[in-house]
Amino acid sequence: MTEVLSLSGVSKRFGGIVAASDASFGVEDGEILGIIGPNGAGKTTIFNVITGVYPPDGGSLSFRGVALNGKRPDEIVRMGIARTFQNIRLFSNLTCLANVMTPLLQRKHYGVWPSLLRTRAVRKCERESEQEALSLLEAVGLSPFSHQKASSLPYGLQRKLEIARALATKPTLLLLDEPAAGMNPEEARALSGLIREIHGKFSLTVMLIEHHMDVVMRLCSRILVMNFGAVIAQGRPEEVRRDERVLSAYLGRRA
Ligand SMILES: Nc1ncnc2c1ncn2[C@@H]1O[C@H](COP(=O)(O)OP(=O)(O)O)[C@@H](O)[C@H]1O
Ligand SMILES: [Mg+2]
Repeated sequence: MTEVLSLSGVSKRFGGIVAASDASFGVEDGEILGIIGPNGAGKTTIFNVITGVYPPDGGSLSFRGVALNGKRPDEIVRMGIARTFQNIRLFSNLTCLANVMTPLLQRKHYGVWPSLLRTRAVRKCERESEQEALSLLEAVGLSPFSHQKASSLPYGLQRKLEIARALATKPTLLLLDEPAAGMNPEEARALSGLIREIHGKFSLTVMLIEHHMDVVMRLCSRILVMNFGAVIAQGRPEEVRRDERVLSAYLGRRA
């Protein structure tokens, strides 16, 4: 297996808070890697550092052999890393279709004049993007809502729309930040199925932060456990489930 993403000694502080502390791990090509840990453990911070939202205070990150340190978020997206947000971020006044088309159109650069004149080539390009967006909406089960405003959807569906929008940037690595948050067990199970489907269909490597243990246990081939900014354990789901440090840091509260 080849490692697509690697973090070495990554740390991030916010004032006196150590949000990430000397985090080192790799992500294998094609795996679904789970990240679990209590609130405030630094899980989202790891995603923020990977996607260039915050520069790390120390350590290095590389994606497919290219350093991510110092790269802007848009450059990192173009390298093939996409994410969804724990706090949903959509263009709430735009339709689902427009939300997914936006990143598709951003990928095409046809210059100012052709755009203003809406040349035949530009119109063709827009039609193609629309078709592509519709098929991405179909892939996440949102076809019936294509022309509804994003804000009119219930949260569970907005999370799926975020996934479709992330897919529109053509990622090879997809970071999902609590995609099942606020869902009941049945909805969470359906979402697991969807994640597995798009993982196969789009040949993705996936990093998944999630509190629904059944989702994590069902989907992930490997799990990282974070606490107080540090990776305190990693292993296969059945190993992590039995790990003493994990039980006391996290699972113990449910057991
Ligand atoms: N932008 C920020 N400014 C200040 N503190 C932050 C910021 N982002 C995260 N933190 C702090 O860093 C710690 C880790 O947060 P976070 O990565 O969001 O944890 P998790 O996603 O595991 O719940 C928390 O104490 C949080 O309050
Ligand atoms: Mg978080």
